[in-house]
Amino acid sequence: MKKLFAIVLSAALLLGTAVAVFAACGNDSSEYLTVATNAYFPPFEYYEGNAFTGVDIEIADKMAQNMGKKLYVKDMEFDSIIQSVKSGESDIGMAGITVNDERKIQVDFTDEYYESAQVIIVKSDDTTFDACTTADEIETILKAQDNNYKIGTQNGTTGYMYSYGDAGFGYDGFTNLTTNGYTTGALAVQDLANGRINAVIIDKQPALMIAESISGVKVIEDVELTSEAYAFCVAKGNTELLEKANAFLKELKDNGDLDKIINSFFDGTADYTYTNPAR
Ligand code: ARG
Repeated sequence: MKKLFAIVLSAALLLGTAVAVFAACGNDSSEYLTVATNAYFPPFEYYEGNAFTGVDIEIADKMAQNMGKKLYVKDMEFDSIIQSVKSGESDIGMAGITVNDERKIQVDFTDEYYESAQVIIVKSDDTTFDACTTADEIETILKAQDNNYKIGTQNGTTGYMYSYGDAGFGYDGFTNLTTNGYTTGALAVQDLANGRINAVIIDKQPALMIAESISGVKVIEDVELTSEAYAFCVAKGNTELLEKANAFLKELKDNGDLDKIINSFFDGTADYTYTNPAR
C-alpha cells in the first residue's frame, strides 16, 4: 500500500514537472500564438480604430494559421517586449525589432525580414541638416550642440541607444546633448511639432508615416544614420518555435507574400485588420 502510494506520488510529481517544463517552453499546447508588440509603430504595427494592423500583425496572423493556432496580440511598452518573451508570457516578439548582439544575450532571433535605418526628424522650417548627405555630417552637427538641444526617441529602441549612447549596442551617443525617452515615437514627434524638443530619431519608415500625420515636421530621409535589420524573437532555447517561424518566413519570402505584405502597407493599399479572439 505504502509502495503504491509512493508510485502514485512520484507519478504526480513527474507530471507536475512535465507541465512546468511545457509551460516554460512557451506553452505549445495552447491554441494561441501570443505575440508581444507595441502597436504605435506604423506601418509595422498600429491601430486602426480598435483593431490591430500593420506588416508584423499580418505576418503574425498568417504564421499563427500556419501553425494551426489563433493569433493573440499583446500590446505593451516596447521596452517590455523582450521580458515578456523571456518569461514565457508571450510566445514571440514581433515589433520591428532590430537584431543586435546585446539583445541576443536575452532572446533568440529568427532570420531577418526587413532592413531599416535610423533617421532624424526636425521642424519643417529647420534648415540645420538640409545640406547633409552623410551620417557623418549630421553627427558632426549634433556633436557641436549643448545640452539645451533635445532629441526625442522611443524608450528602449535603437534610436534611444544611438542618441543616448550604449556600449552594448556599439553606440557612443551624443553625451553633449539631451536625449528624452517617450513611450511612443508619435508622442516625441508631437513634442517636436510643439517646439518642446529639437529633433526626433526613429526608424525610417515609421518616421515617414508618423511625420505624415503630424504637421510642421520633416524627415531628413535621404541620410541613414544606422543600418539595421528586423527579426522576430523567441525565448532562448525555444528551438521548436524558432524553426517553425523560420520555415514560415522562408515560405513567405519564396512565394513573394512578404514583399506583397510590406508593399501594401508602405503604399497604403493594405486592406487588413485583426481583432483578438475573446478568451
Ligand atoms: N527597430 C527599433 C528597435 O528595435 C525600434 C522598434 C520599435 N518598435 C515598436 N513596435 N515600437 O529598437
